Amino acid sequence: MAKALIVYGSTTGNTETAASYVGAALNKKGWETVVKSAEDISAKGLAEGFDLVLFGCSTWGDEDIELQDDFVPLFDELDQAGLSGKKLAVFGCGDTSYTHFCGAVDAIEEKATGLGAVLVAGSLKIDGDPERDDVTAWAEEVAAHA
Ligand SMILES: Cc1cc2nc3c(=O)[nH]c(=O)nc-3n(C[C@H](O)[C@H](O)[C@H](O)COP(=O)(O)O)c2cc1C
Repeated sequence: MAKALIVYGSTTGNTETAASYVGAALNKKGWETVVKSAEDISAKGLAEGFDLVLFGCSTWGDEDIELQDDFVPLFDELDQAGLSGKKLAVFGCGDTSYTHFCGAVDAIEEKATGLGAVLVAGSLKIDGDPERDDVTAWAEEVAAHA
């Protein structure tokens, strides 16, 4: 069975909820999933044994883009995660009233692809609370291309 790792950074629970929707959608498509908070995982060898990696992270800061706190150590050591050649997709919650809507999603995508990760779908940027149907549709697209 194909195996996906979903790692999220979430302060108020929105991206965590989205991560659970992604996991459930992938399970329905026959994937085995591991869903973890970024605070419970270290970068070293993170992608090993997984066919697909999904990163979820909310955006903070104001003028500058700030990743959700728990995701920062992982982001800083992403080069140790073994992402080269690995299938990847990125999602996150934000708020369109900020200058950099879901800027953390873009930052993670850029860094991960720079390390050789292969995007299987465009990112999912969620404005406000995640809608289950929208997240499920995106996860199904990811699964179809992974
Ligand atoms: C102080 C503060 C700064 C924020 N900065 C941004 C931002 O720069 N870009 C953005 O898209 N959303 C921003 N947001 C919105 C959060 O990302 C949004 O509330 C999100 O749903 C939080 O997700 P989480 O519960 O998974 O942490 C900010 C929110 C706060 C309170």
